[in-house]
Amino acid sequence: MKIVHFSDPHAGGPAEDVLAYIDKRWVGVFNYRFRRRFRHDLRKLEQAVAYILDTRPDVVVCTGDLTSTGQPGEFAKVLPILRPLRDSGIPILYTPGNHDCYVRRPQCVEAVRKMVDYLSRSDYQFSDLPILRQYAGCDFLLINTSRPSNLLCSWGFLAGSDAKWLQQQCEMPHERPRILINHYPIFEDHPLLRTRHRLFGEKPVRKMIESGLIDLSLCGHVHRPYNRTDANGRGENCAGSVTRNGSMVEITCDPACRTFSYRTIDL
Ligand SMILES: [Fe+2]
Ligand SMILES: [Fe+2]
Repeated sequence: MKIVHFSDPHAGGPAEDVLAYIDKRWVGVFNYRFRRRFRHDLRKLEQAVAYILDTRPDVVVCTGDLTSTGQPGEFAKVLPILRPLRDSGIPILYTPGNHDCYVRRPQCVEAVRKMVDYLSRSDYQFSDLPILRQYAGCDFLLINTSRPSNLLCSWGFLAGSDAKWLQQQCEMPHERPRILINHYPIFEDHPLLRTRHRLFGEKPVRKMIESGLIDLSLCGHVHRPYNRTDANGRGENCAGSVTRNGSMVEITCDPACRTFSYRTIDL
């Protein structure tokens, strides 16, 4: 069974309403205008879609940060690029990143909700997360750890209720590989150095991965890809930013043995 995992395309654009100059969006718009737009090339996302359509994996995973500030116009930029993928019928498991849940403005909240509905082909809604989906002999555990945070931070929060839900999933017979999908790395080597960018509340889930109850964590947020897995491919894999590094990951899984192998795709 084959999974293709990409993350963090970070489409961006100008402020879309006057309130964007007084809420957190001005930080993101400024960042996009003077930094991000020179680093992220959306043509890489087009190439990623072409690759996926060519290879037709069993599942596509997108771990968020489709946008820079979560504004409707930014989602509208990635939507036509992802449309052929969405229309291909290949299951897409998308969970939002912190930049997709940037502020609480109703039009931004509505935009990310619509994107979840669109990419999942109305299979699940934003409000349905956490949710379990089964494809090709694997259990995919989707959670949302992205919430609006203050001006200077990119915090993620793994809610206690989500950790409890994961624990309940892990109490079921472990008949299929369990693959956790969320935006943030569960493992953080430098929690103090990365305090502004880290995930909080992750400790119980880290233990579930370390004890083998969850076989694999797929994440983004960190724009440089990495693989932190054991000899059987169990652990955590970060796809990096598809538009910054031109990277995505092809994961081959043997559901019977719960083993994974990885191939980095350089676009
Ligand atoms: Fe990102
Ligand atoms: Fe992020």
